[in-house]
Amino acid sequence: MEFIPSDIDQYCVDHTTPENDLLSKLNRETHAKVLQSRMLSGHLQGRFLSMLSHMVQPKLILEIGTYTGYSALCLAEGLAENGKIITIDVNEELEDFVRGFFQQSSLNHKIDFRVGNALEIIPDITQEIDIVFIDADKLNYANYYDLVFDKVRTGGYIIADNVLWSGKVSNPAAKDKDTLSIRAFNDKLHTDTRVENILLPIRDGLMVVRKK
Ligand SMILES: C[S@@+](CC[C@H](N)C(=O)[O-])C[C@H]1O[C@@H](n2cnc3c(N)ncnc32)[C@H](O)[C@@H]1O
Repeated sequence: MEFIPSDIDQYCVDHTTPENDLLSKLNRETHAKVLQSRMLSGHLQGRFLSMLSHMVQPKLILEIGTYTGYSALCLAEGLAENGKIITIDVNEELEDFVRGFFQQSSLNHKIDFRVGNALEIIPDITQEIDIVFIDADKLNYANYYDLVFDKVRTGGYIIADNVLWSGKVSNPAAKDKDTLSIRAFNDKLHTDTRVENILLPIRDGLMVVRKK
């Protein structure tokens, strides 16, 4: 579902800094060679993540759900000089493809790509986190939020993708498991007095939370 008319969307893209050559190649190759290429963040959302990262200048970003690495490369652009991004994905089949692209990036030394189940890997992270990007299986969004919350610094951010779930969240007739899970997640964050939140209708919906 498109939330804004395609001509307006195109106008936004046309008036947004272009993807660099590596991101453009990754975008093309993901669509040509990888299943479910719709999962890739894409140009507009990627530039938003990069801009947010530049604003925060994080020392540590945690990404849950690497897929082909597009959003990880975008988020890495704004890292502080000695900063790093830990990005986790459970899909071993994409590992070589993803590492191949990270190795072509000048930011490769800042990217710690871990293959495995995020629910098992996150508890081992001991450093304070500045930004978390949740973009994995929707049924576990609330679990990821609870797992990372105490690790995020005061004033840090948690961003969650696909929170509009193609518009199903506001359709009372939609009662599939993923929709119910995302609806509950949005309600949980919105009523969490420890945070401020904004739901942005960018692409499939981005929830941005700031820890007070
Ligand atoms: C929507 S895609 C991520 C897209 C990517 N962030 C981007 O913007 O280009 C979701 C990814 O989450 C991964 N995933 C699903 N369950 C996971 C889990 N329990 N632990 C780690 N990754 C998981 C999937 O393998 C998939 O690659």
